[in-house]
Amino acid sequence: MASDKISRVGVIGAGQMGAGIAEVCARAHTDVLVYESTRELAAAGRSRILRSLDRGVSSGKLTEREREQASWRLRFTSDLGDFADRQMVCEAVVEDEAVKTAIFKELDKVVTDPTAVLASNTSSIPIMKLGMATENANRVVGMHFFNPVPVLPLVELITTLMTSADVTARAEQFAADVLGKQVVRSTDRSGFVVNALLVPYLLSAIRMVESGFATVEDIDKAMVLGCAHPMGPLKLTDLVGLDTVKAIADKMYEEFKEPLYSPPPLLLRMVEAGRLGKKAGHGFYPYA
Ligand code: CAA
Ligand code: NAD
Repeated sequence: MASDKISRVGVIGAGQMGAGIAEVCARAHTDVLVYESTRELAAAGRSRILRSLDRGVSSGKLTEREREQASWRLRFTSDLGDFADRQMVCEAVVEDEAVKTAIFKELDKVVTDPTAVLASNTSSIPIMKLGMATENANRVVGMHFFNPVPVLPLVELITTLMTSADVTARAEQFAADVLGKQVVRSTDRSGFVVNALLVPYLLSAIRMVESGFATVEDIDKAMVLGCAHPMGPLKLTDLVGLDTVKAIADKMYEEFKEPLYSPPPLLLRMVEAGRLGKKAGHGFYPYA
């Protein structure tokens, strides 16, 4: 049976998603240890989280005291060995199967609690591939958060043929009761529920731009005003990151071999040019 309530969390990666996951965990009163490979990346991750906490204060969602307390709960390390005592680890590094499997292999050796939850925030890599990189696939699950993590209430919970019922229950309880997220279950197929629907839509919008069918601005305006989406597909692609959208599309195409998942040449060229979207200062739109 499960050990005590999860209060010691680890987050691997402090990019857009890792920073958001670390922030919501710290705001939920857990002790959070964040891994980044260098001091510089750790410093950038910490600033990303502090900026977001500041935003929480300025929008009245957090008090100054809550912001301060959340920031005290966050520690950074560049040594995965420091994760030995974690009860839950959420991996949120780049969408690259080789990088993620190497991390799961290492984490499995380091994290001592046999009931600890080893979760991945992958958008598209089947969780079984990560589980089988470990010797304890029973404790590996997918916990897929949405961007921006402090704002969007969903977590997709993905279990594999090997995930234990106990680990599944602990992951679900953590997402719902500790973080206050809404949970939907998905089977272990590349893209899970949301990206199976969303990614073909984003790729179709890119194909529309590529073919000269309509402008970037008009496509986005059409979906915001015509369908009440909070942002259009090209702005959303910029938010997610074009490198990430390409990596997701590649994985989904690898799994299903269906043309709707194949990344269009314009996306490939933009990634090659470093136009990765909002995080890079330039994508379909420029960012200051
Ligand atoms: N951190 C914390 N809070 C944030 C935030 C962030 N990064 N970004 C926005 N917010 C908060 C703001 O403080 C604001 O709060 P209040 O309403 O209380 O003032 C609220 O969110 C709205 O923000 P803004 O007014 O600045 O901007 P907006 O109204 O244009 O909303 C948005 C911005 C929340 C990003 C909204 O446009 C949105 O929800 N867009 C769609 C995002 C989406 O679809 N995400 C899913 C991507 S797919 C994915 O995540 C899965 C995958 O695997 C790729
Ligand atoms: P990001 O580019 O903002 O951050 C990437 C992170 O990976 C950084 O912490 C970086 O230091 C780390 N990293 C890069 N190369 C590495 C390596 N070789 N070894 C170890 N760490 C490395 O990306 P992101 O948007 O935060 O995405 C992270 C994960 O979350 C991906 O699996 C992505 O599919 C998933 N995800 C992304 C979104 C989104 O909207 N961007 C939404 C849900 C899930």
